[in-house]
Amino acid sequence: MSSTTTRPVVVGVDGQPPYDRALDWAIAEAQRAHAPLHLVYARMMPLRGPTVEAGFDVHTTESDEILGAATDRVRALAPSVHVTTASAYRNAAALLVDESRDATCLVVGARGRSALGSVLLGSTSLDVAAHALCPVVVVRELPQQLPDRPGVVVGSDGSGISEAAIAAGFEQADRLGVPLTVVHAWFLDEVTGLAALATEDVTHVVAQEEDAVASAAIAGWSDKYPDVQVRQHVLRAHPVEALVDHSRGAELLVVGSRGRGGFTGLLLGSVSQGVLHHAHCPVMVVRSSGGA
Ligand SMILES: Nc1ncnc2c1ncn2[C@@H]1O[C@H](COP(=O)(O)OP(=O)(O)O)[C@@H](O)[C@H]1O
Ligand SMILES: [Mg+2]
Repeated sequence: MSSTTTRPVVVGVDGQPPYDRALDWAIAEAQRAHAPLHLVYARMMPLRGPTVEAGFDVHTTESDEILGAATDRVRALAPSVHVTTASAYRNAAALLVDESRDATCLVVGARGRSALGSVLLGSTSLDVAAHALCPVVVVRELPQQLPDRPGVVVGSDGSGISEAAIAAGFEQADRLGVPLTVVHAWFLDEVTGLAALATEDVTHVVAQEEDAVASAAIAGWSDKYPDVQVRQHVLRAHPVEALVDHSRGAELLVVGSRGRGGFTGLLLGSVSQGVLHHAHCPVMVVRSSGGA
């Protein structure tokens, strides 16, 4: 099933290696989704004082060069993709969140020009994952070419938002022509709130309940996507560890922005944050039933 959309794939480019990983993922996604590609560069704020004019010139040239080089890359890799650009003197996350309003998805790298070498996820990437108005893809690593490839992996915890992640996972697996691996992890601390309750009986009952929740979450989807081969793993494990493990060799890991726990009002749950920091493949964070 392939859909045609005029909503663009939006990608944040800052010219700093390895920004082209995010750009390359976005180019491929625009091709698959038959969508235009919108390249966005947030210029640093102009200098103050007597050098302000010179500062403006430097930054204008810089953004022309960065967006020009990115446009050349799109034309070389995907000549059929319609490409547009935008830049502004704005905070990068604020500009990207604005641009996400009408986007099919927003793609960013894991680290930008100001992040320290030891930082796993830059503040722009974290901010847009929390605030964007469309699905966000954070590209830390491109998919690894391993012999055992799980296709698209989706994290499912039975919550409404993870159902949106499952929808996006099926759509992506279908477009890519790869299997979908649905991972549902549970551990007793999370389910019961008390590890002390972990008697054999309780564990057995919880395991059965989690199996039922996991199966219900994917029921019906195969009718909509009959070509997508689905594998389901229900595991007793910490969800971040389970998802990061399954992300090896995956094309994409899809999670919801929130799940079934945590404090109300948080924009990103602990599992989404954990996988954004540690996954071995691009991560898509889905907000609501809008899908990808
Ligand atoms: N136990 C789990 N097994 C698999 N995926 C999970 C699990 N818990 C959460 N996820 C994934 O991570 C997303 C975010 O959930 P989480 O970070 O736990 O938020 P919250 O703190 O609101 O529960 C979910 O929508 C789901 O995609
Ligand atoms: Mg949770």
